[in-house]
Amino acid sequence: MLSECLLTDRVAIVTGAGQGIGAATAALLARAGATVLIGELDAEQAESVAGSIRAAGYKCEAHGVDVTSPNRVRELAAYALARHGRIDVLVNNAGYYGKVPTLEMDDASMDRMMAVNYKGVQHCCQAALPAMIARGCGSIVNVASMAGIKGSSSQASHYAASKGAVIALTRSLAAEFGPRGVRINAVAPGQVDTQLFRASIKERPERLPGIVEAIPLRRLGQPEDIARAILFLASDLAGFVTGQVLSVCGGRLLA
Ligand SMILES: NC(=O)c1ccc[n+]([C@@H]2O[C@H](COP(=O)([O-])OP(=O)(O)OC[C@H]3O[C@@H](n4cnc5c(N)ncnc54)[C@H](O)[C@@H]3O)[C@@H](O)[C@H]2O)c1
Repeated sequence: MLSECLLTDRVAIVTGAGQGIGAATAALLARAGATVLIGELDAEQAESVAGSIRAAGYKCEAHGVDVTSPNRVRELAAYALARHGRIDVLVNNAGYYGKVPTLEMDDASMDRMMAVNYKGVQHCCQAALPAMIARGCGSIVNVASMAGIKGSSSQASHYAASKGAVIALTRSLAAEFGPRGVRINAVAPGQVDTQLFRASIKERPERLPGIVEAIPLRRLGQPEDIARAILFLASDLAGFVTGQVLSVCGGRLLA
């Protein structure tokens, strides 16, 4: 299959790949030929994902990394360069979601949201970009959200704002680093069946049928749906694509 050689001999870092969209992305990028380095807060989860990817015959390493720590992120990038000689792909997937009514939202809630979802992406880009610029090529894919485009009405205005920041960052970096050979794009998932999504509806699970009904394709996304879009943007198939936000939401943005 074409997808099995899209990333042959490439080195890819995927953050937050201990479960959900990140785990599916790490597995797909590895199947496409990349050596995948997982940077994940939960080192045990990361090792479990990496171990199952290796057991299937592909290349994957797990690293305990908190993307809110610029030092730890720089160490991972330095390790990738020293051990593997290059960084071709960075997928900024690590993310956090929480609900707080807007009128009760304090600075600590806003700071935590921005620290992981926006600053974490900025740290990882800053760490990986020098290696990409030095070789005159590279691809960064940021995982934003439909909420970053249309906003959120479910007590998550800070989450929506953090993802809006990721979209603005994506476009800004694409303009800044395109001339140096680096492409930077984003995917904007709709509702995807992961722990994060399940937690977001746990207080009112009866909402699920209505959520699905509002999606033109009449199903939740699966982590693999997002992983395939990320693989496209990460690979040379998207060689003339930069600064774009690809919505992967089953048409929900139309509804
Ligand atoms: N599931 C959805 O419906 C949905 C929709 C839109 C966008 N997204 C985005 O997709 C991405 C992945 O979401 P998911 O649904 O797979 O979530 P998830 O909660 O299942 O997985 C997120 C992973 O990120 C890791 N992580 C969290 N904070 C981290 C940090 N500081 N450093 C490193 N790793 C960290 C977690 O440990 C976890 O393994 C997130 O950025 C999320 O905002 C998800």
